[in-house]
Amino acid sequence: MSGPARERLYFDWAATAPLRPEAKAALLEALCDDYGNASSAHAFGRHARAALQRARRTFSDSLGVARDDLFFLGNGSEANLVALDGSVSDLPRDRRHVLASAIEHPSVLEPLERAARNGAIELETLPVDRFGRVAAEELARRLRPTTGLVSVQLVNHEIGTVQPVAELAVLAHGHGALFHCDATQAAGKLDLALPELGVDLLVLSPHKFGGPRGIGVLARRAGVELGTPLSPGRQEQGVRGGTEDVATIVAAAVAWQSARAELHALAASLRELSALLVARLRELLPDVTLHSSTEYGVPGLVNCSFAELRGDWLVAALDALEVAASHGSACSTRAALPSPVLSAIGAADHSTRSLRFSMGRTTTRANVEELARRLHAAVVSLRSR
Ligand SMILES: Cc1ncc(COP(=O)(O)O)c(C=O)c1O
Repeated sequence: MSGPARERLYFDWAATAPLRPEAKAALLEALCDDYGNASSAHAFGRHARAALQRARRTFSDSLGVARDDLFFLGNGSEANLVALDGSVSDLPRDRRHVLASAIEHPSVLEPLERAARNGAIELETLPVDRFGRVAAEELARRLRPTTGLVSVQLVNHEIGTVQPVAELAVLAHGHGALFHCDATQAAGKLDLALPELGVDLLVLSPHKFGGPRGIGVLARRAGVELGTPLSPGRQEQGVRGGTEDVATIVAAAVAWQSARAELHALAASLRELSALLVARLRELLPDVTLHSSTEYGVPGLVNCSFAELRGDWLVAALDALEVAASHGSACSTRAALPSPVLSAIGAADHSTRSLRFSMGRTTTRANVEELARRLHAAVVSLRSR
């Protein structure tokens, strides 16, 4: 006879977060009731348009930009693409030097690398220290009179490092360069507003803070150009034509309001949960190597590795024990690809072994205790083979 079902533990919030109940309710209501096309001239269209504009205001007011400077795109990757393609293609001829941190997400690095291959820009990588931080002095040394753009994320997707973005943006602006910031992993965990961060382009992805998938948010400082339209049409000021998905946008705005309201309480609770997990790992598995930093890391993310155990083996062993975790970031979870982030922080030896646990608003201390027990069992079992 089989015993009671084991509780499934979700420790992959950095990959995607469960939909918040209030966002789900808003999504369903808008799907069923706000079905007018936001471009239509009749009452159904006006209703949908008003809902769309309210959602836009929710994001633009909180991010400190005008409504016209807030764009809804298909996801965070698409928002990064639009931001980077635009800022890069609009750079003056004598400003084609671009700096990006070595640990940016592929949705930032790939468009920049492509532009560099096509000869549109000269791309230089900004190294990071052993915690994954871009030092202000490092940026200051690399800025040139020809630097047109600097791109540094706010929080890293694999190890959770928080970058000193406000300080870096001041330096970039001092050299007349634009600053792009991918804040996808920061949203819902850190305060975000363009004026305070001092950046020119900021990207969010609502499915990371309990909104639906299928939407990305791009905020720009007034006057910054965006790239070639993704699709023809007048919607989103011509940047992304096509009938807007009002329900998804409305639900994302509801999730954003909730995430902002609970930001400080959640950050405090996630900080405690991360500390508990680190303490238990050290007790139960003393040979653990930690790659996320307590000092510089975002609350709720722990990245670690274990000698001789590949990250994808551990992910599979944990999955068999009903625990969801990632090897590296979600995009590289299914293959034991070496993590470029671990290599960049000087942990290349561990780059195929990394394991990421990320937590969110429903994670409890009991979940963390149980995770530690199951991880211990997984490590012992893999080592005995
Ligand atoms: C730092 C970072 N940037 C961008 C993205 C891409 O976001 P999306 O999944 O919405 O395309 C992710 C997703 O994991 C991310 O972690």
